[in-house]
This record gives sequence, C-alpha cells and structure tokens, in this order.
Amino acid sequence: MSVLFFKRFLQRPFQVASIIPSSKALVERVASKMDFSKPRVIAEYGPGEGVHSREIARRMHPGSTLLLFELDPDFSRDLERQFVDNPRVQVVHGDAAQLPAELQRRGIKLCDYVLSGIPFSILDIEKKRALLQKTYDAIAPGGSFIIYQVTNELRQHATLFQHGESEYFLQNIPPMFVTVFNKVNTRNGYGHPAAKPVMRVPVNHAA
Ligand SMILES: C[S@@+](CC[C@H](N)C(=O)[O-])C[C@H]1O[C@@H](n2cnc3c(N)ncnc32)[C@H](O)[C@@H]1O
Repeated sequence: MSVLFFKRFLQRPFQVASIIPSSKALVERVASKMDFSKPRVIAEYGPGEGVHSREIARRMHPGSTLLLFELDPDFSRDLERQFVDNPRVQVVHGDAAQLPAELQRRGIKLCDYVLSGIPFSILDIEKKRALLQKTYDAIAPGGSFIIYQVTNELRQHATLFQHGESEYFLQNIPPMFVTVFNKVNTRNGYGHPAAKPVMRVPVNHAA
C-alpha cells in the first residue's frame, strides 16, 4: 500500500503532498474526534490509499454511510477494490468540491462529519474559500469538519465555523495540526463530546 502511495506522490507531488500515509497513531487520534455511537454520514476528502477510511469503516455504526472523495485515479480504483464488499462505503473519483452534488444524488441532506486530508494550504484562495463554504453548508448543526495538516493556516480562513480547536500531534511523520471545527447546534451547544481535543493552539498559530 505504501508503495502505491510513494508512486502516486512521485507522479503528482502537489496533489498527494506526502510521501507516506498517516501513522496509525494519527489515524486513531483523528477517529477519536468522532462519535460513532449512532448512524452517521461521514465524508472524507483525499483518502489516498484509505488508511483513515478503513478505521472509520471499522468503527462506524452499521447504519452509517462513508463517502470517499479522491482525485487520483489509481487511489480511487484501489479504494473501490478495498470496499467492494461494503455498500456503506462509496468511492467518488473526483474533487472534494463535488460533496453537495453527491449528497443530493443520494438523497442525503447533510453530513455529520467531514474529514479532510487534502493539502488545503496549497489551494488558491478562491478555491479554498469555495470549498470551505460548501463544506460548512453540507454539515449538520452539531457536526464537525476535521482536518490534519502540516500547518495550521486553515484556521484563519475557516471563520464560518463558530468554534475550532487544534492540537499539535507529534506521532506522525511529519507532525500534524489536528483541528476540529464545529458547526454550532444552537439547541445542544457545539459538536459531539468526542470532538474535544486535548491541547489548544491559538487561532493565529501557523507552523
Ligand atoms: C496527503 S494525501 C493524504 C492521504 C491519506 N488521507 C493519508 O492520511 O494518508 C492527500 C490526498 O488528497 C487527494 N486530493 C488532493 N486534492 C484533492 C481534492 N481537491 N479532492 C479530492 N482529493 C484530493 C490526493 O490525491 C491525495 O490522495
């Protein structure tokens, strides 16, 4: 699997943006930000070879749906092969920006979680703002947008979300900021209890 990852990095370095997949420790940390006790709709941007997707599919409630948005054709084919026997996991070979259309196509109103592994920091500002807006609009009140990135620059752009908390996670090569942005549920406060990270990092803190 890592061989495929390295090959795809060599072919599309700016899109893949990493030479190895996320560590097991990072995958577990990210999954701990989600509450899997109920059926959930979860979208993942940039699953790559599927290291987070496999963990989410393993943990999620049987009534859940996991939508994977992957631009790279080889990764997409490989993901389809991995999840061929699991109808709860659906692979979209395309841009993360297709999320609203793909939800509508399936008759799904909103997501509980959007997880992103795409290199947001190198998207041009207009694309970044447009994707953040689509993401925010697609998340149900009380839901979260979770990202892991080498820098924490997205915090200054993701101002649509009413609340965001970051931790700097060292057990990955390279270390990553893991940030949970919450869409406020006015009835119950923000997010799920599982979405509360350990360490706070100031909003303007960029690596
Ligand atoms: C840094 S890799 C992360 C892979 C994996 N999630 C992990 O943690 O190991 C980024 C992935 O995002 C994909 N990607 C980049 N831009 C994308 C976009 N706009 N929509 C969907 N996927 C994208 C790349 O093809 C690549 O697989």
